Amino acid sequence: MYTVIQYLHSLWAYLVIIMIFIAVTNAIFGLLGKRPFEFRDFRISLFTLIVAHLQILIGLILFFVSPMVQWFNSGQDKSLIMKDSTLRLVNLEHPLTMIIAIILITIGFSKQKKKVEPKAKFKIILIFYGIALLLVLGRIPWSLWF
Ligand code: HEM
Repeated sequence: MYTVIQYLHSLWAYLVIIMIFIAVTNAIFGLLGKRPFEFRDFRISLFTLIVAHLQILIGLILFFVSPMVQWFNSGQDKSLIMKDSTLRLVNLEHPLTMIIAIILITIGFSKQKKKVEPKAKFKIILIFYGIALLLVLGRIPWSLWF
């Protein structure tokens, strides 16, 4: 069970990062090209949102089955989690930062839907998805991944 979920989470991460990157660059080119916000642009932002939400689901399952997550180990000194940088990353920083990043994507998606002007839509996607991309890249456990 753990190996399957870990593999899925690790594989799905590529899709999440690629999609956020595509959404951000698409917003930059949309803004620079001053072009209309088309259905294709909407689909890119929506697909990114869906892919990111699915990763939260997989991540949450992983959180409860991973031997690296040590909150639930009985008799474990929880302060050791905070002292070890890898354990702190996997147990706290990574999950929390990824959830914040996906909340930003969700807010950005719903805010752009309410705007009418293409410029405003692209700008919102650039800001919200852009910050999310930085957060995701900043708190991925790279050493575990590669
Ligand atoms: C944008 C969303 C996310 C991305 C891109 C992402 C990406 C990754 C990557 C690349 C790894 C390393 C995989 C490996 O060991 O090969 C990882 C590990 C992990 N992730 Fe995420 N993650 C995301 C969200 C989450 C969330 C929301 C949670 C929990 C609530 C979570 C929990 C974990 C845990 C516990 C590990 C360590 C698993 C282990 O190796 O035992 N992730 N994540």
